[in-house]
Amino acid sequence: MKSKLEKLLIKSQVPNHVAIIMDGNGRWASKRGLSRIRGHQEGMESVKSVVKSARELGIKAITLYAFSVQNWMRPKAEVKALMKLLKDYLIKEGDKLSEKGIRLNAIGRLDDLPEDVCVVLDDIMEETLHNRDMVLTLALSYGGREEIVDAARSIISRGDITAESINELDISNYLYTKDLPELDLLIRTSGEMRISNFLLWQIAYSEIYVTSTLWPDFRKRHLIKALLHYQNTERRFGLTSDQIRKREVL
Ligand code: IPE
Ligand code: IPE
Ligand code: MG
Repeated sequence: MKSKLEKLLIKSQVPNHVAIIMDGNGRWASKRGLSRIRGHQEGMESVKSVVKSARELGIKAITLYAFSVQNWMRPKAEVKALMKLLKDYLIKEGDKLSEKGIRLNAIGRLDDLPEDVCVVLDDIMEETLHNRDMVLTLALSYGGREEIVDAARSIISRGDITAESINELDISNYLYTKDLPELDLLIRTSGEMRISNFLLWQIAYSEIYVTSTLWPDFRKRHLIKALLHYQNTERRFGLTSDQIRKREVL
């Protein structure tokens, strides 16, 4: 049964592509006197819930910031625990993704991940390759600046693109996100107003929604609130309100 909140959603105005900076696991744990790792475990429950909810709500692409390039600098035990949680998640949820028509995708410097994680990741990506209901992208060992550097390297190494001919589309086509739709909505949990090196190119005209809810507490109702905020925002893309309204009428 749909909640009151869900009934307010206009199906045709659900964003195609939503990305989430899943922040606040450590704070969630320390508020309870628990270890940061316990916070990450709870955060995994939110991942499961949000992936399921996103599909139910008709979102076509969801991108989750799970581990940044900079996160490698965290204490060794925490990094190890995060990699184990990731592997466990993939092993346990892989079949469910398949059943639900969800394609798994990953972006970032994936070669930096431990071998055993890469193997499971590759298996599930292959198994879910033809699923069309939603694409779940995990950003792993991801950095927005690193992504742009990697794109520049690939473009230059092609050798046949001249400085004068290069355009926006060429750059987009060399980013890790080349096959994903435009990013409509970026959500950050835990209240901080920063981007932390996430999807720097892609957020050019995304709506940004920051909630004080800590990631381990984030569930379907919080996602719906973010979608409602999105629906009530006028995206102008540099134009005037009048122009946007007229375009809607046309
Ligand atoms: C997000 O929670 C998870 C990762 C960055 C891997 P944090 O671990 O950053 O939690 P806080 O920000 O310290 O509360
Ligand atoms: C962003 O959170 C990275 C992920 C959610 C994976 P961080 O906790 O690493 O970001 P900062 O340190 O608050 O900027
Ligand atoms: Mg954090």
